Amino acid sequence: MSDIKRDSDLILRAGELIASGGIVAIPTETVYGLGANALNPKAVAKVFEAKGRPSDNPFIVHICERRQLSELCHHVPAEAAALAERLWPGPLTLVLPRKSHIPDIVTAGLDTVGIRFPSHPIARAIIKASGVPVAAPSANLSGRPSTTSFAHTFEDLNGRVDAIVDGGDAYAGVESTVISVKKGSIRLLRPGVITLEDISQALSEQGIERCEIILDEALRRKLTADERPRAPGMKYRHYAPRAPVTAFTGAPALTAEEIRRRCGGREHMAVLCFDEYRDMFKNAVSYGSKNDMAAQAHNLFDALRRFDEMEGVEEILAQCPSDEGVGLAVANRLKKAAGFNVVEVGKEQTLFWER
Ligand code: TXA
Ligand code: MG
Repeated sequence: MSDIKRDSDLILRAGELIASGGIVAIPTETVYGLGANALNPKAVAKVFEAKGRPSDNPFIVHICERRQLSELCHHVPAEAAALAERLWPGPLTLVLPRKSHIPDIVTAGLDTVGIRFPSHPIARAIIKASGVPVAAPSANLSGRPSTTSFAHTFEDLNGRVDAIVDGGDAYAGVESTVISVKKGSIRLLRPGVITLEDISQALSEQGIERCEIILDEALRRKLTADERPRAPGMKYRHYAPRAPVTAFTGAPALTAEEIRRRCGGREHMAVLCFDEYRDMFKNAVSYGSKNDMAAQAHNLFDALRRFDEMEGVEEILAQCPSDEGVGLAVANRLKKAAGFNVVEVGKEQTLFWER
């Protein structure tokens, strides 16, 4: 039997499992997902259970053809249609008013639903084989970094799901860009490898010139206990290794120096750094060159998980990229992993000089 035949049999089997109410971990181009039939509330409940996910955090619904967007959403503004045309299939989730046949459990009772058409060939083939829209959160246990490889997915979900499909390493490494779309206005709820620049370029290529793009408040700071985030997932501690993380923003040479000063040779401190500074530290994991945000995105979750395997790590100090381009997504995940415990290195210095 050829590999292609074997792969297509496995894809059909995964699709059948989802169609018949099972839950299956699947590779996507962002991170691995844990899929269930989005129209079957019992199957979706099993995903909440397997992940240990809080019930007020909605799932993204994954499709394999653009026309499914209007089958699931009762209103698709021109901006959303334009972005679907230009950027799908790909790592972009559109949050739109939902149709009522989508079970409440999928949307956590919200009147909107997040829809995504992934580009990963295995993900698309499994969704197609299932014949249904597939609700899929990231395939990590709740609170842990999302999984970007079969090994990490297996580590978190083995014994809790009906199957795990091996599709190699996820390409992007961070989850999809999530935006809510209204006529004339787009709100960025979660940054990803599709950047604000990509979105505004796609809109203008489709002839839409007047559309404001708002950065949600939850991306800039930790929300207070009584504030309700627009994307419920943003209020939870996330992506976190076991040891507490502090993120350092500012020019890379300065943050490296500051981290070295704070470590002072202490054994229990570990460092997440850019490749260029790896040799400055003893217990360090590097996650890409300082100017290569795509590489940082690809490696970040794997790097965060590595600290859990290191002996005696009590504190992690991390170099954080700037908010430009894909850096916004990397910095967002890192700041969340740090519970917004951020040291702005350049700023401290500026204040010092002004005195
Ligand atoms: O790349 C991805 O998006 C991956 C892969 C598997 O597709 N999925 C993923 O799902 O990251 P999850 O459940 O881990 O994150 C979904 C995020 C959460 O923060 C959730 O609160 C938000 O999207 N979200 C989902 N539906 C929403 C809605 N209707 N309104 C606002 N936010 C929503
Ligand atoms: Mg997640």
